[in-house]
Amino acid sequence: MKARKLILSTVAFLALFVAKNSSAQSVVDKKGVQNFNQNWLFKKDTLQGAEKIAYQDSNWKKINLPHDWAIEGPFSNKNNARTGGLPVHGIAWYRKHFVVDNKNKGSQIAVAFDGVMNNAKVWINGNYVGERPYGYIGFELDLTPYIKYGQENVIAVQVAPEDLSARWYPGAGIYRNVYLKVKNDIHIPQWGTYITTPIVSDAKATVAIQTTIKNAGNLSSNAVLVTTIKNNKGVVVASQSKAISLVKSSEQKVSQNLEVLKPARWDIQSPTLYTSISQVKVNNQVVEEYQTNFGIRTIKFDANNGFLLNGKRVQLNGVCMHHDLGPLGAAVNYRANERQMQIMKSMGTNALRTSHNPPSPEILEVCDKLGIVVIVEAFDEWQLPKVPNGYSKFFDQWHEKDLRDMIKRDRNHPSVIMWSIGNEILEQSKKDGWILTKHLNDICHDEDNTRPTTAGFNYYPQPFMNKLAYQIDVVGMNYWPADYKEIKEKNPNIILYGSETSSQTSSRGVYHLPIEFNEKHETNQVSSYDTTVGPPWAYAPDVEFEAQEKNPFSLGEFIWTGFDYLGEPTPYGGRDNSTNGYWNKDWPSHASYFAPVDLCGFPKDRYYLYQSQWTTKPMVHVLPHWNWEGKEGDIIPVYSYTNCDEVELFVNGKSMGKKVKGKDFTEIPSEYHGFEKGMYKTKYRLSWNVPYQPGSIKVVGYKNGKQAAVKEIKTAGAPALIKLSADRNVITADGKDLSFITVRIEDANGNLCPNADNLVNFKVEGAGIQAAVGNGDAASLASFQANNSKAFSGMCLLIVKATDKKGTIKITATSSNLKTAETIVTTK
Ligand code: GAL
Repeated sequence: MKARKLILSTVAFLALFVAKNSSAQSVVDKKGVQNFNQNWLFKKDTLQGAEKIAYQDSNWKKINLPHDWAIEGPFSNKNNARTGGLPVHGIAWYRKHFVVDNKNKGSQIAVAFDGVMNNAKVWINGNYVGERPYGYIGFELDLTPYIKYGQENVIAVQVAPEDLSARWYPGAGIYRNVYLKVKNDIHIPQWGTYITTPIVSDAKATVAIQTTIKNAGNLSSNAVLVTTIKNNKGVVVASQSKAISLVKSSEQKVSQNLEVLKPARWDIQSPTLYTSISQVKVNNQVVEEYQTNFGIRTIKFDANNGFLLNGKRVQLNGVCMHHDLGPLGAAVNYRANERQMQIMKSMGTNALRTSHNPPSPEILEVCDKLGIVVIVEAFDEWQLPKVPNGYSKFFDQWHEKDLRDMIKRDRNHPSVIMWSIGNEILEQSKKDGWILTKHLNDICHDEDNTRPTTAGFNYYPQPFMNKLAYQIDVVGMNYWPADYKEIKEKNPNIILYGSETSSQTSSRGVYHLPIEFNEKHETNQVSSYDTTVGPPWAYAPDVEFEAQEKNPFSLGEFIWTGFDYLGEPTPYGGRDNSTNGYWNKDWPSHASYFAPVDLCGFPKDRYYLYQSQWTTKPMVHVLPHWNWEGKEGDIIPVYSYTNCDEVELFVNGKSMGKKVKGKDFTEIPSEYHGFEKGMYKTKYRLSWNVPYQPGSIKVVGYKNGKQAAVKEIKTAGAPALIKLSADRNVITADGKDLSFITVRIEDANGNLCPNADNLVNFKVEGAGIQAAVGNGDAASLASFQANNSKAFSGMCLLIVKATDKKGTIKITATSSNLKTAETIVTTK
């Protein structure tokens, strides 16, 4: 929403039960667009007549949006582990009572939902106003004819997500932001600007702005559209006016070209944003003001030279991500998204694929701000279903509107570089699948001809044989690194990349010895030696690194996934046909193991493997932990990941020798079609076999012969204390901002106890509340909303949320036999 804000200066202020606190990131002007998140009533039940004004709702639960009912749990094997083992289905109702001031008579009143999961139906004062089945798309509904001014109005929303409707955790409820809009008859409708930069040079950029202006009234009128561009310091850099005549009950598109001199480019290193302010004036009065953030940049995709941003090649070091926020569930939170992408950026990520659906507006705001390019994906299913109640049910009726709306909504974001029309859609192997592909491709180009289309194919060679792959602009291959070369040789003109790669799994801080080869371990955990364990198509990250290096025509890769997510607990979670086809064979596994970062955002060892390949600031990493009591004298494989030239390992101060990157290899068990099941020699890992003795292991990375990075792990003694560290000690008192507090169990000398699973109790007092807890264990059934958490591999996470009162939040963590810890977070 933020990028397109609607401000209405002539419409009187609303008297509503509204948020005092529009978020720092969201609503710009409270006159025209109101945050409509506060004071809703909720009941999860199949209710008759709950849309009616007089329905008795006084005993319903009071909540604020965004809201995800399913994250409250409990985890149960009566729910599908594939969708997180959480209650994501059923019927629920939301109601809100509100008053619109008499002064607003004659305005246009609309409600805008950023997304409701799913099958939303909306009534105002008992009148049905519309529905939207797809949970990932925003929609706006006109309430004008039904609003009662100066009296109570009731908006009622029925949400009806079905079981077996997703391959991951979708969340449930009104899980994205909601706004109430009060507009003049003459206004810019939802997603009403389209900004492109057709000509960009160092000297100047042409900014082409197309503005839709609506006259909903029954009088024709003359107006002036004034468009002003400001730079990121708020300085006006261009402005233009255009007289227009607006016929009654009509809509028109107005085109303007503005020039920005010496434009600052939006780039990965310096993501500079500009703001366009569109004012509509009637009789010299501003009746509408609408704001759009945009960037000035060029993108080019070349069949041989990859992706060029502002004329320079950028190798896409990408991640696929589902939309949930781990312990916080699917309810949108700007700070939680920002933190996710900051962690991804610190790993070296520069690209995101919003698998497999339109993201929240907040995610794109974050990527615009951080300089991360994005593939926005529309669908995981077309007409052919992957799950019984998935999008295929809605495809025929809704796909065109959903796809057009997605592009209209997102096409001003400089971060967005491609539109993906689908992931592994089953039509890819159908003889006539190309027809639908062409149709979707044409819709994308009709709405935006400045970005290419793409899709992720997991079949080869079917989508080439049936010509489907030729209907889109850029071909994404899911899990085919060994075949990039052949695919390209056979199709020299295609632009190609790895739209989904690796699918390696692991559990943070868990090591199984001896190193395993695609075996399921009885603990429901996967070893962090990161040798191939995963679905049959999985392979170690190293295999993709090599494929990308050998095939420089490829744009890059998008690993599956950046963060662990709820649901799809592969390699655990086999389908159990005795329970409705649920994935509960390996219960209690119910969250993914795929990512280099766990559900809490804590890096696993694999994070450093990516960092060693994707970043240049000298780093070195070592694994495993060094607490192998009872294994004294046994050989322990020690791995190191680095971007330095060479690494020296010291055990208790004694050198075990240097290993040189590019010269020394590590043999790891790997399995992948194209790479025979067997040992794969990777140059991306250095390793030593070391007889275990307690003490320390230390790695020193050298660059040009000089020490450039060091990491040491010491054998930890008994757990002695709790260590709390907040990612931010000062947060905004806006009722939304979060502080993520890492909780470590340490010995008396401050070493992490790598096997500790102590139960830690939390107390949160003052200007904040506890938002969630978690520990990254994909098989833990503990509630994310408990006021305690067990440590997993020595760590857990507490998330606290600011209230809207300024002050201090005091956090106390206690655990029997451990020294208590306290920390303070200030809210401003
Ligand atoms: C892919 C699919 C993803 C995820 C992944 C797990 O085939 O596109 O959504 O299921 O497999 O490896």
